[in-house]
Amino acid sequence: MVNLKAYIQTYGCQMNEYDSEIISGLFKERGYSLSSHPEEANLIILNTCYVRNKVKHKIYSKLGEIGKLKKKNPELLLGVCGCLAQKEAEEIVAQAPYIDFVVGTFNFHRLPQIVEKVQKNQQRIVEIDKEGIFPEGLPKLRKRKFSAYIPIMRGCNNFCTYCIVPFVRGRERSRLCEDILKEIEELSQEGYKEVILLGQNVNSYLSEGKDFADLLTEVNNVEGIERIRFTTSHPKDLSEKLIERMKLKKVCEHLHLPLQAGSNRVLQRMGRGYTRERYEEIVKKVREAIPEISLTTDLIVGFPGEKEEDFEETLEVIERIKFDGAFTFCYSPVKGTEAAEFEDQVPDEVKKERLRRLIKVQQRITEEKNELLVGQKLEVLVEKVSKKNPEELQGRTRTNKIVVFKGKKELIGTLIGVKIVASGCWALRGKIL
Ligand code: SAM
Ligand code: SF4
Ligand code: F3S
Repeated sequence: MVNLKAYIQTYGCQMNEYDSEIISGLFKERGYSLSSHPEEANLIILNTCYVRNKVKHKIYSKLGEIGKLKKKNPELLLGVCGCLAQKEAEEIVAQAPYIDFVVGTFNFHRLPQIVEKVQKNQQRIVEIDKEGIFPEGLPKLRKRKFSAYIPIMRGCNNFCTYCIVPFVRGRERSRLCEDILKEIEELSQEGYKEVILLGQNVNSYLSEGKDFADLLTEVNNVEGIERIRFTTSHPKDLSEKLIERMKLKKVCEHLHLPLQAGSNRVLQRMGRGYTRERYEEIVKKVREAIPEISLTTDLIVGFPGEKEEDFEETLEVIERIKFDGAFTFCYSPVKGTEAAEFEDQVPDEVKKERLRRLIKVQQRITEEKNELLVGQKLEVLVEKVSKKNPEELQGRTRTNKIVVFKGKKELIGTLIGVKIVASGCWALRGKIL
C-alpha cells in the first residue's frame, strides 16, 4: 500500500472542526502523514457543511478544482465526509464521478478503514448511516495546544424550520459526564488552559440525571483549566439554574444566544419556541446576574413571509439589547427543510438590502460597546501571531473580544494582563501590562 499523505479541508462549524481533529488523529495513528497543502497530498478529504446554499456551492466548486488535480495524478484519493455528504451523497457522486468515497456524519470514524479498502479494491465506497452511537476514546490531533473543543452532545431535536442540522446530524445524544471530564482532565495534564464545550443546544444536555448546569460545576472543578466557554445556547432551554452557575469562577463572561429574529410572527414560523419578550427577559436576568457579560447572537433576515415591519422589529430589539456582536445571515432556502417549501419567499434583493441595514446598525453598536473598554485592564489568552503584523499577537478576553498587541510569540498559550488602549468594530488594541 502506498504511504498516505492526507490533506483535510474543513467547512462549517466548530463541531466539524473537532471532527476533523479526530480524522487527523485517526490517520496519524494509522501512520499517515498530514499536509497543509492539497498539491503535495495523495489523499484529499473535504469535511463539509450544508447550513446555507452558499456553502454548498463553494464545496461543489472546490470538488471541481480538486478533480483537476486528480486528472494530473490518477493515484490521488478523493473523498467527502460531513454534513453535505450525509445529505447529498448521490448528487456528489453524480457531479464528481471521480470521487473515491463519500462518508456520512455517523461513519467518519471509520475513514481509515474505508480509505484502505478503496485503495485495495479500487472501487468507490459510499457509507452513510442514518443513526449511530458516537464512539468514545478516539485519538485527536488538536490544532491548538491551549484551547480545546469538547463536544458534550451531538445532533439536535429542535427542527427550526430553516435548519438542516437535525437532518444531517441526527437526534440529540448527550455524552456521559464522566467521559467529558476524563477528556478535560487529560487536556489539563497536557497544559490546556481553556475548554469550549460544544453542542447545537448545550442547554438541553442531559446525561444520567445531570443537566448542563451540573456539568459546568464539574468542569469548573478540573484543576489546571482556567477558562470554560460553551456554545450554542438555545434561549428556550436557558434555565435560572444555569444562569446561577454561569457565575462560577472559570466560566467566561460571554453568552452566545441566537435570537434569529425580533418579530414574534417570524419566530413562531421559525419554530424557535420563544417570543421576543421572553428572550429579552432572559437577557435581563443574565445581565442582572453577571453585569460584565458580553452577549452575542445570530440573526437571519428575509425569512419567508418577513415583512418590512417584522424586519424593523429585529432592528428595534438589537437597539434595545445592544449585543456585543452578531453573526448575520440572509435566509437561505435549504432543500429538505420545512421553510424552503414556504410560499412567501422574500426576493434576494430585499434580503440583501435588509442585511446591509442590519450590519450597519450592529456595527455601530459593537463599536460603541468596544469603546467602553478603552482604559480597562483585562485578562487575555494569547492565541496567535497577528496575520497583519508578525510583531503583534492576538488573543481573547474572557468576554471573547479579540485584542491585538505587541509581544513575543513565546507568550502564545499563556494568560496575560493587557490594558486596552484603542477600540474598533472587529478588535481592541492593547498594551501588555
Ligand atoms: N444550534 C445553533 C442555534 O440554535 O442557533 C446554531 C445552528 S447553525 C449551525 C448556526 C446559525 O446558522 C444559526 O443560528 C442560524 O442563524 C444560521 N442558519 C441556519 N440555517 C440557516 C438558513 N437556512 N439560512 C440562513 N441562516 C441559517
Ligand atoms: Fe438548527 Fe435550531 Fe437545532 Fe440550532 S436549534 S441546530 S438552528 S434546528
Ligand atoms: Fe455544522 Fe454546517 Fe453541519 S454548521 S453541523 S457543519 S451543516
